[in-house]
This record gives sequence, C-alpha cells and structure tokens, in this order.
Amino acid sequence: MTVRLVPTIDALRAELDLARATGRRIGFVPTMGYLHDGHASLMRAARADNDLVVASIFVNPLQFGANEDLSSYPRDLERDTEISAEAGVDLIFNPSVDEMYPFGPVLSSVSVPALSNQWEGATRPTHFAGMATVVTKLFWIVGACRAYFGEKDFQQLAIIRRFVADLSIPVDVVGCPIVRADDGLALSSRNSYLSESERVAASVLNRALRAGAALIEDGESSPTVVMEAMAGVVGEEPLATLDYAALVDPATLEVPERIPATCRLLIAAQVGRPRLLDNLGVNAPGGAP
Ligand code: PAF
Repeated sequence: MTVRLVPTIDALRAELDLARATGRRIGFVPTMGYLHDGHASLMRAARADNDLVVASIFVNPLQFGANEDLSSYPRDLERDTEISAEAGVDLIFNPSVDEMYPFGPVLSSVSVPALSNQWEGATRPTHFAGMATVVTKLFWIVGACRAYFGEKDFQQLAIIRRFVADLSIPVDVVGCPIVRADDGLALSSRNSYLSESERVAASVLNRALRAGAALIEDGESSPTVVMEAMAGVVGEEPLATLDYAALVDPATLEVPERIPATCRLLIAAQVGRPRLLDNLGVNAPGGAP
C-alpha cells in the first residue's frame, strides 16, 4: 500500500472533493504523529469502513500550555509514514504551522466549557479550546467524512461529539476502543517519556480502574467509595502522583449522586515526566437508570 504526503490545504481539499464527487466515502484519522498501535487501530477501522483514508499529522501548538512539551513533543515522520501505509492510509495531511495558521495568532476559537472545565481542563485550562479549534478546522478542510478517535482521550471525544452535534458539522464521529500493552497500560505517544521503572509503575492506572470496576460489579452504589478506592490503589505506587480518579456520567462527565447503569471511570496521574490518562466504561448490575 502506498501513502502520499499532502502538505497543503488546497491540494487536500481538491483531492477529497474529487473523491466525494465520484461517490467515494472518506475516513479521517486526526493525529499529532509519533504513531503507535492505538493510532494504527483507528486507521484500520477507517480502512474497513471507507473507500479513501486520510490521516493528519499535525502537532497543534494551540492545544499546548505555555509550560508544556510542544517543542519536545516526539516526532518521526518517516516511521509514521510506514505505520500509516501498513494500516491502509491513502493520504497523510502533514501541514506546517504556517499552512494551518498563516495569520499568526489565531483569534477565533471553538470551546465547550461545560465539558472542558473539569478533569483534564482543570490542570490544562487552554487545552480543550485549542484542540476543539484545530479539530473544527481539520473537519472544514477534510469535509464530510467519518472521523475516528480513540476512547483513551475520553473527555476529548465527548467534547468533539458535542461540538459536532451543536454546530451541525457533517462528520460522523466514531469512537474506538483503547489499545493497551500486556500489563494494561493504555498506549500513548507520551509513554516514550517514561524511564524503565516508571514504565513498570505506570500500569497502576489500569489496576486502579479495574479495582473501581470490580467494586461496581460487586454492587457498590456510592461513587465516592469507588473514587476513593481507585485513589488508594494509585497512592500505593510511590512513582505515581494522582491528579484525579473519578466516576462520571459518560455524557455530562459529572459525578452522579448514585452509580448509574452505565458509567465511566476516569483517571490521571503524573508518572515521572508525563501525565498519563486512562479510563474504563463499566455497567453496574443494579445501577440507577
Ligand atoms: O488526540 C490527538 O492526538 C489530538 O488532540 C488531535 C485530536 C489530533 C487534535 O490535535
């Protein structure tokens, strides 16, 4: 399978407009590169459902805070091209920052404050508006398509689903399951920052989620008990510092009073340099409707 790099907005639009005009369905996988098997699983899903698959690789400055890792964010276009080709991608849109933001500072913004202010947004206050703005821009460039996102960034996915619905953007958003290493660690480009001992410690996030899920499946009805149990598991790992361990309603991302029939456990912790995120969907046996 050959994959072609398309660095400009005009060239990508022309190609995708032509494809749509001949009845081809477009699958789109937005990424910031440094691809891993989680990204490849999104690309394979897009390949299975569509006639033409485009991935974007763009490290979006708007979604990094002033003290975050924008300049050191890992990049490897050659390897990314190979992974994309193997996963069945036809086109990689890899614009420069000037191509995406030719007028310098971006004065317009898309934001969904009700879903953005808590959890990740509490620690990274500008992150979700930067993410939503670039995803909206990418959707405008790619046009009508199915777009594939990992459930690993669960809050991001909830925000994208909401602004796509609110703004009637002609994109079908497809959420895909988290891909994990053998010890349960969710794959992430930032895992490359972990030292050997931190990498071992990082599996504590998944252990905490599974401890929370086990309590729910055993009939626990209090979100607080579940959240404290998850925090307790992380507390036992000296290399991890918990940011939050939460049980939320999957649509509102708020902590309910009683555990509903379907809920999401969210967790974030600092392990060495990176902040790691993970989450798990759980069905409660006697959950509140
Ligand atoms: O999840 C990511 O990699 C990024 O937030 C996204 C969706 C590609 C926007 O830059």
